Order: sequence, then C-alpha cells, then structure tokens
Amino acid sequence: MKPAIKLLSGLKNFICTSQLSGEQVYAMLQYAIAQKAQAKAGRLAPTLSRKTLAMIFEKPSLRTRVSFEVGMSQLGGHAINLDQKDIGIGKRESVEDVARVVGRMCDVIMARTFAQKTVDKLAQYSGVPVINGLTDYLHPCQAMADVMTVLEHFGKVSGLTLAFIGDGNNVARSLAMVCAQLGMNFVLACPPKYELERSWLDRCQEIAGDQAKIEMIVGDAKKAVSCAQVLYTDTWVSMGQEAEKAQRIQEFAGFQVNEELLAAAPKEAIVLHCLPAYRGTEITDVVMDGPQSRVFEEAENRLHFQRALTELLVAGPQ
Ligand code: CP
Ligand code: NVA
Repeated sequence: MKPAIKLLSGLKNFICTSQLSGEQVYAMLQYAIAQKAQAKAGRLAPTLSRKTLAMIFEKPSLRTRVSFEVGMSQLGGHAINLDQKDIGIGKRESVEDVARVVGRMCDVIMARTFAQKTVDKLAQYSGVPVINGLTDYLHPCQAMADVMTVLEHFGKVSGLTLAFIGDGNNVARSLAMVCAQLGMNFVLACPPKYELERSWLDRCQEIAGDQAKIEMIVGDAKKAVSCAQVLYTDTWVSMGQEAEKAQRIQEFAGFQVNEELLAAAPKEAIVLHCLPAYRGTEITDVVMDGPQSRVFEEAENRLHFQRALTELLVAGPQ
C-alpha cells in the first residue's frame, strides 16, 4: 500500500472535512482521481458487492442522488432512496430510531437534511458510516468534487486562489474549510448580511496557518476575483429559503458572475458552480457555457469523488 493510501484506513464518517487532516484530504483526492482513471478504463472492481447504501433525502436532489446511486452500482453494490415524505425522519419516527433501524440493514448511510444535527445524530446512533450529502450548514462532498476539479485542471491546488461570489452558505462554508486544509487561498465576496461567521473564517485561517489566506470582502466582487484562478458561485436562494427569494435577488444585485466580472479575473481563471444554476440570476449563459466554465466536469466529479469515498468508508482503501 502506498504511504498516502495508509492515511485513508479506518475512516468512520464523512460529515465535515475538518474531521480529517489536510494530508488525508489530499490523499482522498488522489485516491478519487486514480479510481476515476480505473472507471474510465472500464476496470472498476466490485469492491462493494452485496453492500447497500441508504440515501435519506429531506430536500430535493439531482446530482447527489444520481452520483451516489450510480457509484454504488458501478462498484457492485446497491442504493435505496428514502424520501422524507415516506420515512418522516424526526416526525413519524425519531432520528435516533431511524438511525438504529437503517444501520442494522444497510452498510452505509448518505443523508441530505435541513439541520446539521440530524446528520450528526445519524452518525452517533446508526453504527455504520454516515456521509453528509448536504445540510443547511455544510456540503463537504461538493467541496471535495470542486477541489478535485481544480486539481485536475491546474495540476495543483496549493497556492491558487478561489473566489466565492455570492452567499456565505453551506457550500461556501465547506469550501473555505477544504481550501484552508489544502493551502489554497479562499475569498468570499458577498453583500452585507450574507457573510460567513467570523468564528468559522478564523478557524479556517488557523488550519491554513501561513500556507493560505482565508478572507471575506463585503461588497466588492471585482476586487475578490482580481487574483483568483477559480471563480465560484452558487444560487442566492438555497433550499429552504424560498420565502426570501425576492428580497435576496434584490440584495445580491452586483454579485452576478457575468462577462464583466470574468474579465476582471486572470485569463487562466476557470468558473465553477455546484448546480443547480439559475441562469440569468447568479450566473449568465455566456459564462456558464463559455470556454472558461468547468461546471459539468465538476458535476461529473461528484460521481468520481463519492464513489471513491463510499469505497473507502465501507471496504477501506484498495
Ligand atoms: N450540487 C448538488 O448537490 O446538486 P443536487 O442538489 O442536485 O444534488
Ligand atoms: N446552497 C445550495 C446548494 C445546492 C446544491 C442549497 O443548499 O440549496
């Protein structure tokens, strides 16, 4: 076993990348890139044969659902979809009891929930590995697929700068953490009221040490992108915030990723978006479909990263 792969033995859950060391995060990316090459060559081994992934969804999904289900099937396993309207987690039955039951029948759980504490409780009570498939607070699978895309494109991550334009939300929070762990500079440009918590940014900066800067600029998107190799955006209205839609769209004016903003970035910059995109709102068609966009490579990497992650958690490094 290569030394880097040894770092990936004995992983229990994947809730927030802060539970891993920076070396483990980087080793996981390398593992996912190597497994992606195997997949492209048609050489994936059935390492999850007879294993079942339970997917719990309190919120809608396209990418997360498809990528986890396809990843399991490609490794010889099976995935079952548990929709909130059927299982009523925390309503029909307590989170703890759902965890206990699903953990006795399935080998791994992926959950997309509103409250972070729901995913935390699943990990505490299920007895099987739990993967955070997005909460109001975090989206670590997304952040890992994003930095994987950056690593593949530039051949490195440390020393680069990622500018997140828009809401200081779950995706921004996970990206700030993973950038800090990989020695990548992170800057959030957002309107007032939509900042990331100072305590989170300070924690990320402490992890980055003097390897990277973790910053926030309130109110100046152009300044944020001037030195950035990666421009990132996400919806201004996350799932669960639909009632605030009109107000948010007004308050995020000036934070659209469009040709003018892209022109303020270095020429080699790439554009990422976790999707789904609201075209014409946080990003324009011209940028999303333009030569600097890597959004669909990024979406595909959800499959490659999560297939590798599930294998690591259930079967261990191969
Ligand atoms: N980016 C992402 O998580 O997409 P879905 O909401 O479609 O799963
Ligand atoms: N911030 C968005 C991400 C969607 C994948 C949301 O939570 O809705």
